[in-house]
Amino acid sequence: MSVIRVHDKSFEPYLSAGEISAAIKKIASSLNAEYEGKKPLFIAILNGSFIFASDLFKELTIEAEICFIKLASYKGTKSTGHIVTAIGLDIDLIGRDVVIIEDIVDTGKTLNHFLPQLRHQQPASMKIVALLHKPEATLFPLKIDYLGFTIPDKFVVGYGLDYDGLGRNIPEIYKLIDS
Ligand code: IMP
Ligand code: MG
Repeated sequence: MSVIRVHDKSFEPYLSAGEISAAIKKIASSLNAEYEGKKPLFIAILNGSFIFASDLFKELTIEAEICFIKLASYKGTKSTGHIVTAIGLDIDLIGRDVVIIEDIVDTGKTLNHFLPQLRHQQPASMKIVALLHKPEATLFPLKIDYLGFTIPDKFVVGYGLDYDGLGRNIPEIYKLIDS
């Protein structure tokens, strides 16, 4: 792995495919133990989490459902802060054990705005799994129940994460090189 360009910016290798896959196996084994016999409903937040959700879901050995919803709130390298909409949630949450799948928690704004909408539907429980967390960027504190990696407050791409639409297909995670 070496330095790559996405649009006008350079990124350096940060987390390898092997490190990501090991973290996912660890999260999956916790979930397999915690949700045995509960038929949890996983709600993956598009677009960023599609690859993480897919790899994580394949590691689950329990009975589980998954659905994908879309909440757009990000443009360029800084959070724009406004959440556009939540589309695609067509399953009743009442009495369900819900697990939200996020690619990355940055300021925490997206989930903080969205979780009350879900709680309103009275799930039996609701937990959050995130691949990445930038604690230094927190504006809206959030409890992440299952986490892959704590990372510094640097913009990252790859493994589903984009920089203005590009970079999602890179199998590893790369970090912005400050210029
Ligand atoms: P938050 O609402 O500030 O926590 O932002 C969450 C969303 O912003 C994530 O689900 C990502 O889609 C996007 N995001 C935050 N940080 C990054 C990053 O470093 N690279 C790519 N997308 C990011
Ligand atoms: Mg996202």
